[in-house]
Amino acid sequence: MSALVNEPAGLTPETLAELREIAARYPEARSGLLPMLHLVQSAEGRVTPEGIEACAEILDISAAEVSGVATFYTMYKRKPVGDYLVGVCTNTLCAVMGGDEIFTRLKDHLDVGNDETTVDGKVTLEHIECNAACDYAPVMMVNWEFMDNMTPQSATALVDDLRAGTEVTSTRGPRICTWREAERVLAGFPDGRVDEGPSAGHASLVGLSIARERGWTAPTGEADEQSTSDDPRSDSGAHPAADTKQGAADQADDKQVEQAAVEDSNSSSEPAAEKDEAK
Ligand code: FES
Repeated sequence: MSALVNEPAGLTPETLAELREIAARYPEARSGLLPMLHLVQSAEGRVTPEGIEACAEILDISAAEVSGVATFYTMYKRKPVGDYLVGVCTNTLCAVMGGDEIFTRLKDHLDVGNDETTVDGKVTLEHIECNAACDYAPVMMVNWEFMDNMTPQSATALVDDLRAGTEVTSTRGPRICTWREAERVLAGFPDGRVDEGPSAGHASLVGLSIARERGWTAPTGEADEQSTSDDPRSDSGAHPAADTKQGAADQADDKQVEQAAVEDSNSSSEPAAEKDEAK
């Protein structure tokens, strides 16, 4: 189904100046390509041919090289994206915990398929791979902000709120901005929301809490060293006799190599006539 997504109006002089600003942040300008492509998406709603040409020109590389990067990473979009990029994790753990059901429900509810945008241009739906948040499965993302422990009901309520313009916050705290605004942050232009929400959620810290309750600590480097040297399976001197034998064998090998090198050198420095005579 076609969507009412605004077509890009072209890169403005301000955006071109910001692209150059990003490139200038790096000792090797081409290292700035990834954030530059995010800025193009912020300005144009997708990676456009014009954006590719601009990046190539600023970085003095070919458009094919820029295009190769833009088509390799799934965060770069060649089709217009709606105001909210809604991802549903359908990797193994989230899938069995309800991710597949959520994705099916949202496709029906929004009347779109994977990587398609609603007719009002508000929501682009896509299934995504593991976001390393399996302890909160099933997980969704809106413009790269986490939505944890989702259900088909909470997922449909979420997209309804997004389409209605109701303020939505991630289950971890931050307010959800538009996709273009989020892309600008990924380009390295902060929006001041970095401190909204916790840096790690409860489920991710359960193991740490249990360890503290039980007095478990991580082994120190010193203890590791000691236990390695005590380990009869280690290579570090637990078997002196074996090590001595191995050392002697190594020395013998070294001598053989040296002798072969000397013989080789002697034979190669032999005058050609002498070699012929020897034959
Ligand atoms: S499987 Fe969904 S976040 Fe890991």
